[in-house]
Amino acid sequence: MKRIIIIGASSGLGARIATDFARRGFRVGIAARRAPRLEEIRNLYPDNIVTETIDVTATDATARFRTLIENTGGMDILLYASGIGFQDTELNEGKLINTLETNVIGFARIIAEAYKYFRATANVTKGQIAAITSVAATKGLGVAAAYSSSKRFQQMFLNSLEQLAYRQRVNVSFTDIRPGFIRTDLLDASKSYPMLMSVDHAAPLIENAILRRRRVAVIDSRWALVTALWRMIPQRLWRHINLDL
Ligand SMILES: NC(=O)c1ccc[n+]([C@@H]2O[C@H](COP(=O)([O-])OP(=O)(O)OC[C@H]3O[C@@H](n4cnc5c(N)ncnc54)[C@H](OP(=O)(O)O)[C@@H]3O)[C@@H](O)[C@H]2O)c1
Repeated sequence: MKRIIIIGASSGLGARIATDFARRGFRVGIAARRAPRLEEIRNLYPDNIVTETIDVTATDATARFRTLIENTGGMDILLYASGIGFQDTELNEGKLINTLETNVIGFARIIAEAYKYFRATANVTKGQIAAITSVAATKGLGVAAAYSSSKRFQQMFLNSLEQLAYRQRVNVSFTDIRPGFIRTDLLDASKSYPMLMSVDHAAPLIENAILRRRRVAVIDSRWALVTALWRMIPQRLWRHINLDL
């Protein structure tokens, strides 16, 4: 039985992907801060899903992550889906720090621990570290500076570990999933967003990218086109663009 650990599985994409993998017959270890939400998801597939309460910003997160790996019976795939983000043109200090603690420090903590797990286990089958980053990392977004730059950090951390894995001959692959807007709790429910996707549309695309071990997957093809165009805009022009999302 293949084993996947999903950090950030109490709602949105992580919750949906967890139940989909359990239905496919995977053994699934899920974590987040909201224990009752995790329990509801576990109850859907009690034979396949195990839970652990983890706050990725807390110093006990790595120990709890190791416990979850053990209770899941090992790990073949890690999916990091935890994340917070705000549109914050006032650069509120609390929001800024929370975003960086979750998306940068928490991310690095868990991804590094997963890397060390795969390095230590010397699996016959290749391990996989997947993370949901974002199209927001493509260019600096003025309306969400902390979020946008935290997602760039995530992408760069995966790139760096890929090089380290080659050097250290660690049998692991990396999957960087970059979605555009998806209707989940992360977004402000009162706002309208361009090219907004449903979880029903996005989740199968993400699962497919994981199962095919895609290195980078922009979700979906329309967003792949938009981000390719964004990349062509030099910063001296980009700064004039008002992306009031
Ligand atoms: N929705 C979009 O438009 C969109 C677009 C691009 C990328 N993404 C990325 O997709 C990922 C999943 O987000 P989502 O859209 O599914 O939103 P969501 O429903 O809000 O899910 C976020 C998940 O992160 C967990 N989380 C937040 N803080 C945490 C912490 N300190 N420790 C552990 N877990 C924590 C939440 O669980 P608890 O609150 O229970 O801890 C929840 O399970 C995020 O990384 C997000 O940046 C989303």
